[in-house]
Amino acid sequence: MYTLTYFDEFGDRCTASFSTNEYHSLMELLFDKYLEEWGECKGRAWCGTCHIKIMEGSIGQEMEEEEKHTLSKIDGATNESRLACQIPVNAALNNLVFKIVSENQYD
Ligand code: FES
Repeated sequence: MYTLTYFDEFGDRCTASFSTNEYHSLMELLFDKYLEEWGECKGRAWCGTCHIKIMEGSIGQEMEEEEKHTLSKIDGATNESRLACQIPVNAALNNLVFKIVSENQYD
């Protein structure tokens, strides 16, 4: 089992345990365990509602064009921004720290 840490929409620090390939994406992991409504486009990299910002560690995965395009339209997105629905759940996420960005402005 691996562990990651995130700050939820209230700024509370949370931890989640997972094993490789237990979930299709990081968004599904968080959706299943911790959040009720998240990911309006159901993981297609279109809506930007699964925006997260990496605080410690790295995902080590190149972004696809669709993810880059969607992030470019979100106000407040930075170089640390990713879409959780595009991130596979594997050992690379062990000890990752990130925060969930709840207020996304998409134009
Ligand atoms: S769920 Fe829509 S971009 Fe990730």
